[in-house]
Amino acid sequence: MPNPKPTRDELPEAGGTSVTYKAANKLEGKRALITGGDSGIGAATAVLFAKEGAVITTVYLPDEEQDAQDTKKQVEEAGGKCYLFAADLVKKENCQAAVDFALEKMGGIDILFNNAAYQMMVEDILDLPDEQWVHTFNVNIHSYFYMAKYSLKHMKRGAVIINNASINAYIGRPDLLDYTSTKGAIVSFTRGLSNQYISKGIRVNAVAPGPVWTPLIPATMNDEAQKQFTSPMGRPAQPSEIASCVVFLASMDSSCISGQTIHCNGGTVVNG
Ligand SMILES: NC(=O)c1ccc[n+]([C@@H]2O[C@H](COP(=O)([O-])OP(=O)(O)OC[C@H]3O[C@@H](n4cnc5c(N)ncnc54)[C@H](O)[C@@H]3O)[C@@H](O)[C@H]2O)c1
Repeated sequence: MPNPKPTRDELPEAGGTSVTYKAANKLEGKRALITGGDSGIGAATAVLFAKEGAVITTVYLPDEEQDAQDTKKQVEEAGGKCYLFAADLVKKENCQAAVDFALEKMGGIDILFNNAAYQMMVEDILDLPDEQWVHTFNVNIHSYFYMAKYSLKHMKRGAVIINNASINAYIGRPDLLDYTSTKGAIVSFTRGLSNQYISKGIRVNAVAPGPVWTPLIPATMNDEAQKQFTSPMGRPAQPSEIASCVVFLASMDSSCISGQTIHCNGGTVVNG
């Protein structure tokens, strides 16, 4: 079973050791809104964004207040500022409220990282409850639509949107049919929205992680699935390894990239 302690600001070195992330002021003065920023990939991204000089607002489920407070503390230890907004993003009014809160606290939004998600394993479509299908779409793609729609009204040239997709959109994972379908929608949403906004100087990209050791995994996957939770590299990724890709897409290091998906998946070769 993978190491249960996800790392947020450690990155592997070639020799098998790891090193603390080295920042270079890549996001100085930027204002970032992250959904699902209390734990996992969202939390690691909040920490790396802070190290790069950004101010953060994170949105998370109210039940996850303790995780959010811990992440806020880690962001502050990294020298950053982190505003917390607990809300269920299934309701579009809460998406609007989250954007309004971020604007009030930070004075603007330069980076939107749509990252919140729901998944629950069901082996067979015949056993997949209609309610789960709808809920997964509400969290995983409808909230991305509303967060983007409400944020874009305030975003200026140079702003970026990054959406969290998944390798499952490309490999068609059978026991996560609803989740996999939403992740395919996220890839297409990223492409279409990029084509709408690139002429206005706003870039839209996605990451498609493979297995990443985050709280989502033990909470939603059975023991057998957890045992097989690995990649061609022989291990799942750490949240920090996805977060560094999000930093790249958020910064001007990726200035000529839009409508694309980074496959931070441990070496699985996929199309698109
Ligand atoms: N862990 C992996 O192996 C993996 C692989 C590919 C893609 N991803 C993607 O990475 C993203 C982050 O997942 P993670 O693995 O870090 O797990 P996580 O459980 O740490 O994060 C999921 C977040 O979504 C938030 N969330 C869920 N439902 C919500 C709702 N209704 N309203 C508001 N917030 C809500 C939770 O607060 C939580 O912070 C997701 O989009 C997930 O699909 C993860």
